[in-house]
Amino acid sequence: MSLNPHLFVVLGATGDLFSRKLLPAIFSLMVDNDAKIIVLGVATRDLDDAAFQAVSRSDLAAAGIPSDDYDKWCEECLHYEQISTDGDYSELATRIEQVEQEHDLSGDRIFYLALPPRVFPEAIQRLGDAGLATSPGWTRLVIEKPFGRDLQSARELNSIVHSNFDESQVFRIDHYLGKETVQNLLVFRFANPLFEASWNRDRIERVEITVAESLGVGERGGYYDRAGALRDMVQNHLTQILTLVAMETPVVFEADAIRDEKVKVLRSIRGIDPTQVVLGQYEAGAVGDEPMTAYRDATDVASHSRTPTFAAIRLQLENWRWQGVPFYLRTGKAMKERTTQIAVTFRRPPICLFHGRADSCIEHSNVLYLTLQPDEGFSLEIEVKEPGESGRLRTIPLRFSYSEAFGDIPMAYETLLADVVEGDQTLFVRSDEVEESWRLYTPIVDNPGEPHPYPAGSWGPEAARDLLGSGVTNWATGPH
Ligand SMILES: NC(=O)c1ccc[n+]([C@@H]2O[C@H](COP(=O)([O-])OP(=O)(O)OC[C@H]3O[C@@H](n4cnc5c(N)ncnc54)[C@H](OP(=O)(O)O)[C@@H]3O)[C@@H](O)[C@H]2O)c1
Repeated sequence: MSLNPHLFVVLGATGDLFSRKLLPAIFSLMVDNDAKIIVLGVATRDLDDAAFQAVSRSDLAAAGIPSDDYDKWCEECLHYEQISTDGDYSELATRIEQVEQEHDLSGDRIFYLALPPRVFPEAIQRLGDAGLATSPGWTRLVIEKPFGRDLQSARELNSIVHSNFDESQVFRIDHYLGKETVQNLLVFRFANPLFEASWNRDRIERVEITVAESLGVGERGGYYDRAGALRDMVQNHLTQILTLVAMETPVVFEADAIRDEKVKVLRSIRGIDPTQVVLGQYEAGAVGDEPMTAYRDATDVASHSRTPTFAAIRLQLENWRWQGVPFYLRTGKAMKERTTQIAVTFRRPPICLFHGRADSCIEHSNVLYLTLQPDEGFSLEIEVKEPGESGRLRTIPLRFSYSEAFGDIPMAYETLLADVVEGDQTLFVRSDEVEESWRLYTPIVDNPGEPHPYPAGSWGPEAARDLLGSGVTNWATGPH
């Protein structure tokens, strides 16, 4: 891919996101595409170019990249500008022009907000006030998650964005959308008529989307206690996956046509029934052999905190394709295993084979597991006849593994950054999508109630199972 030479301005360039994820992704993007990418790091800390380059070198080393590869790039292409928390961005604007002149750039710019979310509104306003929403080339604004804390704050943030930037310039990032398997959902569904023909209420019994983390809150208690599972995971990542699983075929495979269909999915959900929501919080336990203290004992977490670290929700989509098919979203910290998975359970044939013998009745449904992490790929469980006279049926998986088929796959952030440079908004969340999503979850976020306790290292509170309804004893766990 040939990428335009551009200036990548990162606001929040001394933070965790930049050092662990963005910088290695920018570097890989530059190397993989032989692109000219000049970085201007911005934060309030007192650093100069040399100090910023030194920190960046150790960040790239920590990412496992050999120093021969990045030494020259860091020295020539990384710059730093200190800003104050209360000043305007006029000095930043001047510095941007200087750096562009120095590197002979034509004014194509990305502003990446890797800032604490409370700083998003003022940063966007200051960029606009300093005339930085336009340039001699293109200007794009990337906004990290979370976008708002509820419907009201998301609307206010959208309003500030739109009073300074055009929506076509805005890239609201949800890094789950950069994962190959998430993108592959569209290909899986729409390039394989076998599945698309069955992707509806006639053939599918239920859909479960799980994002389980085995880690607890660690040292991020201060952030997490203000966010919780609904804001941190459900409103964004799980809901984005849901829209891709459930959307109709877009009229054309372009950003707005795809995003129109995703918004329609959210609009088809009238609201969430509070009785169909189970929130939980982990207590002391063990994940594998590792003991874990209770959430309320974690650093910077209030001792009486009611912040949910687990959420399970049953949703109903009121449209022709999905009427009557329950969709379940489930996420938690300190869970038994780390996995991100979509389990699609197909309806069972209502028959017994082989002259009605009891042991040849079809007891298992076909289940399609689409695994997003840790082993990206899918597995389709089908029924086969055991060899011999018994006539018994056995469930076996048909598997596909991304790493076995393709080796290493690009990092999600690299994929998304390439799309920003290309101006492709398909994998970014539009303003109406984010508001529709908040419309659903704001009532629960506002009144979470007392969370159900669950031991660290389990699959969450027992009550979550009750959401599955009669005849379903447990969440789909696989592939087997
Ligand atoms: N870390 C992750 O893995 C991750 C994953 C997904 C999303 N995110 C999102 O990414 C964003 C950044 O997260 P983070 O973990 O990198 O946070 P962080 O470690 O706290 O870093 C925040 C950055 O913002 C700078 N900053 C703070 N106030 C500022 C201001 N008023 N003006 C300019 N710069 C300011 C800080 O530097 P100074 O103190 O030097 O100013 C620092 O560079 C957040 O929105 C977060 O939700 C992070």
